[in-house]
Amino acid sequence: MKKIALSAFAALLLFSCQNDQTESKNPETSAITLRTCASQDVLEAQLKADPTLAIRMNEIEAFTQNKILSGKLVNGKIQIPVVVNVLYRTAAENISDAQIQTQIDVLNKDFNAANSDYGNVPALFAGVKANVGISFVLDQIIRKSTTKTSWGTNDAMKKTASGGLNPTSPTTKLNLWACKIGGGILGYAQFPGGSTATDGVVIDSQYFGLSGSAAAPYNLGRTGTHEVGHWMNLRHIWGDANCGNDTVSDTPVHNTANYGVPAYPHYSTCTGTPVEMTMNYMDYTDDAGMYMFTVGQKNKMAAIFLTGGPRASFGI
Ligand code: ARG
Ligand code: ZN
Ligand code: CA
Repeated sequence: MKKIALSAFAALLLFSCQNDQTESKNPETSAITLRTCASQDVLEAQLKADPTLAIRMNEIEAFTQNKILSGKLVNGKIQIPVVVNVLYRTAAENISDAQIQTQIDVLNKDFNAANSDYGNVPALFAGVKANVGISFVLDQIIRKSTTKTSWGTNDAMKKTASGGLNPTSPTTKLNLWACKIGGGILGYAQFPGGSTATDGVVIDSQYFGLSGSAAAPYNLGRTGTHEVGHWMNLRHIWGDANCGNDTVSDTPVHNTANYGVPAYPHYSTCTGTPVEMTMNYMDYTDDAGMYMFTVGQKNKMAAIFLTGGPRASFGI
């Protein structure tokens, strides 16, 4: 470990700022003082003045290499490994690998402003719409056949002891459960701060991923997007109360949940009568009606992955 760090630091010293050694062969320019990179000169002076600086720089190099090698950084962004737990009684509930991949693809699109309807965000909200910049990669699929006709919302599907499947590495992997929930529930998530034994997101098999086995009007994978939003600490946009507070400053105050695909603009009757952001993933509209997160939501989500945050173990 130490050896790698030291040699990486030596390489850093060798490879920095070499343009001052490139002599020009052109007589016209040879008289001109060749540019040097002052950073290196300054660094060398500082290293002479303070021998402990080299130690700190080695530690920084080791930290950097360690983070890169951890595999969580992909194109400089957080990548979340996803374990999908499939509990099935019927063939339809045993959703295919391809169906599962469509859900991962939707998450990647929706969390990276790559969804095809992102351009439909009204001009009024153009200044706050956000590319969250978190990506997801399918880690593994675990399947289990069951005789249960519906699982409810008491976390039974997350426990082997009650016929379900325990989460796999919940501090470093997002666990999804695909199963029949029942009671008209599309999905539910555990917020940050809960027990690791039940951490993750449940999505009814009928609404998991894209049309195929998913049923309209919840067939665009947005139940997954909405629930992963909760898993990353987002509240419903109406703050679960009439004119409630979602603790995000750039989302307007909503009266209550919106359903279907509301006509735009839909005005709130709350203080200031703002236009409601019904196209936010944290509302309750049809999948086709939701296509944006805001900058405030993005920052709220990003915070949980920082050092000291409740999902720091997933972080970069
Ligand atoms: N927890 C919500 C429910 O079960 C999910 C709403 C998701 N909305 C959607 N369009 N997929 O009702
Ligand atoms: Zn919700
Ligand atoms: Ca708000």
